[in-house]
Amino acid sequence: MDAIVNAPVSSDEHRALGQDRLRGSIDGHTRLVGVIGWPVSHTRSPAMHNAAFIALGLNYVYVPMAVRPDLLQAAIGGLAALGFVGVNVTVPYKEAVLSLLHELTPAARFVGAANTIAIRADGSLLGHNTDVDGFTDDLMSHGVSLPLQPASPALSRGAPAAGGPSRDPSDHSVKRALLLGAGGAARAVAYALAHAGVHVAVVNRTTEKAEALCRSVATSLGFANSPAAGGPTAHHFPEALSELAPAADLIVNATSLGLNGPGDALPWDRSVPFRAGQIVYDLVYTGQTPFLQLAAAHGAKAISGLGMLAYQGARAFELWTGQPAPVDVMLAAISG
Ligand code: ATR
Repeated sequence: MDAIVNAPVSSDEHRALGQDRLRGSIDGHTRLVGVIGWPVSHTRSPAMHNAAFIALGLNYVYVPMAVRPDLLQAAIGGLAALGFVGVNVTVPYKEAVLSLLHELTPAARFVGAANTIAIRADGSLLGHNTDVDGFTDDLMSHGVSLPLQPASPALSRGAPAAGGPSRDPSDHSVKRALLLGAGGAARAVAYALAHAGVHVAVVNRTTEKAEALCRSVATSLGFANSPAAGGPTAHHFPEALSELAPAADLIVNATSLGLNGPGDALPWDRSVPFRAGQIVYDLVYTGQTPFLQLAAAHGAKAISGLGMLAYQGARAFELWTGQPAPVDVMLAAISG
């Protein structure tokens, strides 16, 4: 058997972990959490969670674990024996991990992916998808109200020190959303919005994938699969944008366009204007993408996916620790 070689972590990550170790101590009582992926050198989650543990004085440590594909089953199977409280799961294992878990939440089952595992006292593994609630939590932190406001522990606490970022005082009511993309990231957003009572129009280059996503949202949430019943609708990208954009209160980019930097094609048609006050959200969390810049230039409220990253982490933190997450600390740790 080949030697098991972990992918190297960046020097920044080493530095961050080293600083954390100096500030907190690891001892026989330290509780273990972490992230499993391949590679994991890109992940900001260790910095985010370790900053949160230090801020609350919790004796936990979050470690990155680069797991080779042929060892995924062994790694997941060994978590309970090693005493882990839980782990995050990142690319490329969010789907593959499902068959290795004992139970899934409805959101993880629907999305077909788990990004968080909670390990129960009996050693059984429960798979969550905290991207779903992370997305709506972040919308709400920006003053967005949804028809069926989902329960949001991170926001309902309201305490500035241990709560979410202060709410934007303006109230943006979202009833209709236009969702760009029909891949894995779009599934979490479609489920979150439809579950919150928002009518979702899915616009995708491959219409069949949009149709399949709409059918599974409708089935999973009990909509008759028709627009009249409030179920999601499928449309072709980019032709449908001009017709659908004016009525949308919220537009979300969940395509992979933008992930490769500003040189990527826009997930939009430049001839289609945005409305002043329209909310435009980009799941890409590298800051103001060209898509967000275009929307902002039209007076739209442009939101980057960085907050979603913090809130999905906050949901995982709360599952593992049972404590309210310091979302401001977590957001600060991954910003910049
Ligand atoms: P993820 O898991 O990150 O969502 P994915 O499942 O590969 O990634 O989905 C990528 C999404 O971006 C898809 O909706 C894809 O459209 P197709 O279903 O037609 O492939 C969309 N996408 C990627 N490149 C695109 C492009 N050049 N133009 C339009 N849409 C694109």
